[in-house]
This record gives sequence, C-alpha cells and structure tokens, in this order.
Amino acid sequence: MADAERRVDPIQGEILHVYDGIEEADNQLPLWWLWTFYLAIAFAVLYWIGYHELKVAPLPMEAYSKALQERASGGEVSEELLTALVADPDVVGEGQTLFNDNCVVCHEARGQGNIGPNLTDEYWIHGGGPLDIHRTISEGVLDSGMPAWGGTLGADAVQKLAAFVLSIRDTNVEGKEPQGEVWTGGSGGSDAEGRDDAPEEALEAEDAPEDVQDATGTGD
Ligand code: HEC
Repeated sequence: MADAERRVDPIQGEILHVYDGIEEADNQLPLWWLWTFYLAIAFAVLYWIGYHELKVAPLPMEAYSKALQERASGGEVSEELLTALVADPDVVGEGQTLFNDNCVVCHEARGQGNIGPNLTDEYWIHGGGPLDIHRTISEGVLDSGMPAWGGTLGADAVQKLAAFVLSIRDTNVEGKEPQGEVWTGGSGGSDAEGRDDAPEEALEAEDAPEDVQDATGTGD
C-alpha cells in the first residue's frame, strides 16, 4: 500500500507490494501459458455440454462397460466353430494356459474338480455340448460360484477355454464325484447332435450339488 515502499527488482521488475519480506510484482503472464489456461477452460465447457448435456458420446465408464459387454459376446459362436477349434492343438494349448491361470483354483489342474465340478466326466450340470460349455464359461453361474469369464477374459479367450474343456471332456480323470446328469449329446464334439440350448429343467437335477454351495457359500 505504502507508495513509499515501491521499488524495482532486477529480475521481477516493479515491486508493488511487500509484506513480511515477501515481494509481489505484477508482470504479464507469458502468452503460451495463458493459452493453455484458456484452452483448458474451453475444453471443460465443451466437455460438459457435449458429454453431459448433448450426450454426443458415452461417458468413459459407460463406454468401458459397453466395451466389456461387446468383448464378452464378440461375434458368432457356432458348434462347428468350437468343434474346429478343438482340432487345433495351438488353440487347445492356449486354452490350457488360460485354464491354468484362471480355472485350476476351482477345477484342479486336470479339470478333475474341487470347488467346481469335474469337467472330465460324463456328468454335466449345465450341459456338455460345445455351445453349453461355451455359454457356462462366458456367462458363468453366478448363484453357485462359477464366475462369468466373457467380460474379463474376452470372447476369444472363452472360445479357447471352451476348446480346452471340450478336449478334456470324457477323459474321466478321477476326481470329484459326478454332478448333474449324464451328457448324451455326443462325445468329442465331432458327432454332437445340434443342441444349442440346454433346457432349464436340466438344471434341476435331483443330485443338485449342495457341497458346491457349501464350498462357495462364504464368498459373494
Ligand atoms: C471360484 C471357483 C471357480 C472358478 C475360478 C472357475 N469355476 Fe467353473 N465352476 C465353478 C462352480 C462352483 C461350478 C458349478 C456351477 C453350478 O453348480 O451351477 C462351475 C462350473 C463350470 C462348468 C460347467 C460344469 C457342468 O457340469 O456343467 C464349466 C464348463 C466350467 N465351470 C469351466 C470353468 C472354466 C473354463 C474356468 C476358468 C476360466 C472356471 N470354470 C473357473 C467354480 C469355478
């Protein structure tokens, strides 16, 4: 305030205000700096109008969950496609790697079952056909502790996993006791009768896996 204190600093220029030894000048900000500031303000306004009012594009979180969904459903899956994949050792090998990384905690190293059912016997809770297995892996059985993998791993990985599971189907590794019903839709996939949807009644098998419920009952 006191004009008497006005002085000029060699670097800062004219000092307008001094308080407690802190000197305050009033210089022009560099133009490039001001422009980043103005552009940031303009961006914020345009973003607000565009995303929140006009909704020209989905918000990042919406876009993300949509992408997850698309990834999960990704493309046509047919019995023929899955059967062809089982015949490709590279695909089955990649499926096995994915299985080791994601599934053995519940289904054991050879698929013989632990928390999850034995995948190598002829009994299936949700159907043992290629499309049944694919659907169970992709959508999961959330009520009984089988996670849905379509969104997390993607359609491609689910196909490889289905191919791997089909390759160990009916190999009868000794493990968890049978759960579900004997699957008679054909073995090996090549001569499978076209059965693209397991009837819901199949889920109500008499020997419903209560031990599975127990084993997974602690989680949510
Ligand atoms: C957290 C434990 C857990 C993990 C991890 C898990 N599963 Fe499961 N899975 C289960 C349970 C529990 C069931 C039985 C669901 C039911 O009883 O309805 C099941 C069922 C299945 C079935 C159907 C079996 C049938 O009899 O119809 C398939 C196929 C399967 N899982 C494959 C996989 C694959 C492939 C992975 C890895 C990507 C995987 N699971 C990871 C717990 C798990």
